[in-house]
Amino acid sequence: MDHDLISRLAHADHPIAAPVSDDSVHRLLRRGIHRADARLLDLGCGTAEWLVRALSAYPGVRADGVDLSEGALARAGERAAQLAVQDRLTLHRKDAAVFRSAHSYDLVLSVGATHAFGGLLPTLAAVRPLLAPGGRVLVGEGIWEREPSQEAIKMLGEFADLRTTVDRVAADGWTPVHGHVSTRQELDDYEWSWTGSLASWALDHPDDPDAEEALSTAAEHRDEWLRVYRDAFGFACLVLRRTAD
Ligand SMILES: C[S@@+](CC[C@H](N)C(=O)[O-])C[C@H]1O[C@@H](n2cnc3c(N)ncnc32)[C@H](O)[C@@H]1O
Repeated sequence: MDHDLISRLAHADHPIAAPVSDDSVHRLLRRGIHRADARLLDLGCGTAEWLVRALSAYPGVRADGVDLSEGALARAGERAAQLAVQDRLTLHRKDAAVFRSAHSYDLVLSVGATHAFGGLLPTLAAVRPLLAPGGRVLVGEGIWEREPSQEAIKMLGEFADLRTTVDRVAADGWTPVHGHVSTRQELDDYEWSWTGSLASWALDHPDDPDAEEALSTAAEHRDEWLRVYRDAFGFACLVLRRTAD
């Protein structure tokens, strides 16, 4: 089954592709958007859910979204049109790691996409030249809440605990001005939703040629989550400013 189709079905009931609730998204955006006419950039925007919510809530804001996925960007455009914010959203099908712009941005987001840059600090290094003076970064990254197994590291990548993550960011010249650590409920909601929406679609479409694979993909993902990483994986969103420039 095409990865994009799996992602579309799995995110049907949780369009933010990260373990962050709708309330937390709004709270983080409020901390990140510090001027009424802010220009936003989302690197690895997926279906641009963060941006369309920001554009809906803040009528003076404009935004650019960057992603490699044609399908995700198409859905971003549809969603922006549904909410009548498409005039203030520009979508770029590009590699976020090499995205350049003539503009600078008041808020640069990158949530669940630091792998596109090779990790958290390389993400911040890439964001830095894109930031307007006084600009903020809203970055969402995995953390380890408990010692991970080797299998979990192999599956999800190299993360650190919250304290080490924040220490590294601070040592790199950034000051956290807000943060959010996903709660157990947010982490579980995201996984139940991902696996449950995909499985439900399969059960609702038993004659579809993809139904069997969708059901087994959901079951495999659910098993990996419960067996390999649920006990150790966490997720943190940090709102950062340059400490000095
Ligand atoms: C976990 S999703 C997060 C999407 C979105 N930030 C959100 O929170 O809803 C990661 C996204 O990063 C995108 N991505 C991965 N590598 C990328 C790259 N090199 N350039 C641009 N986008 C990339 C994927 O296509 C995917 O949409």
